[in-house]
Amino acid sequence: MRPADRPVKTPIQDLKVGMFVQMPGGWTQHSFFRSKFLIKNDEQISKIARSGFSEVIVNPLRSHIKPERHKKPNYIPKPPKEHKPKFDLGPPLMPTGFSEFLSDTSIAPKRKAGHLYNVCLHVMEKVLSDPNMGNITQFKQGVSGIVDLLLADKETATQLFHLTSRDHYTFTHSINVGVMSIMLTKALYGESTPHDMQELSAAYFLHDIGKSKISDELLYSPETYTERERKVMEAHAVDGSELLTEANLQSVESKIILSQHHEREDGSGYPQGLQGDQIHIYSRICATADVFDALTSRRLFKPSLLLYDALLLMKYDKGLHLNKEVFSAFVQLFK
Ligand SMILES: [Fe+2]
Repeated sequence: MRPADRPVKTPIQDLKVGMFVQMPGGWTQHSFFRSKFLIKNDEQISKIARSGFSEVIVNPLRSHIKPERHKKPNYIPKPPKEHKPKFDLGPPLMPTGFSEFLSDTSIAPKRKAGHLYNVCLHVMEKVLSDPNMGNITQFKQGVSGIVDLLLADKETATQLFHLTSRDHYTFTHSINVGVMSIMLTKALYGESTPHDMQELSAAYFLHDIGKSKISDELLYSPETYTERERKVMEAHAVDGSELLTEANLQSVESKIILSQHHEREDGSGYPQGLQGDQIHIYSRICATADVFDALTSRRLFKPSLLLYDALLLMKYDKGLHLNKEVFSAFVQLFK
């Protein structure tokens, strides 16, 4: 290999669109779907910078533009500092050995899916009870491994998908909608998704994080909401988005999903009353999973619908106003 073709460590400030990079460390240390990828836009460079690394490796052979090579300095450079987050993440959120568990192929898919579901519930409960920067950051890192598993291990993903029908509590709802939305995105876009699946999936799981600002009394009230209470409930779409902004953890994907997941095709949704193509595909996916889970989950004050009845109701669009193409792909997930 010619010296000019060898991979080269490149400072973040020298990165350019068209360079093929390799992120340092494992999947827990960055939020990209893959550790090696071609930089396609400036947003990706900003995201690499936000990961806290000072430099990444650029592979000239796979890049569209060549990285600059700096002459070796005539002094001995200090050893690179170990990567540490810029703030204290607080107590660990994910259980010890979680990444080893995810990659353990000796565990039967059904058992793996059951344990994974319980871990997700436990973690989601912690995040929604205390949505601080440390918890959300750790959640996003933990989701990264779950997403890899869901995309790569079809059997475990299918088992997990069939677990997503239980009694309705905010935690189970968030997990159910997260899992179903990831599967639906995969069904619509396959393996060649151009989307940042890590950010996207974290946002699917956290779509209702704004509800953490609502009292349990109102959240689980069996009474019909007053006009004022309805406005408080509906504010969770905007509150969730703001909450992530305050924690400095908002991504393009989360902004879209959190703020649009209650928009409806005919403009009857909230908060903006967007119509048709004004609603992003991420939000249409999340809305479909959200409505299905709401229909099939049992609440204190409402019985659940059977799967078939719920799909029928969604098909004939009884005031639900979901996107038809997304719904068709959703139905295929049950076959
Ligand atoms: Fe919601």
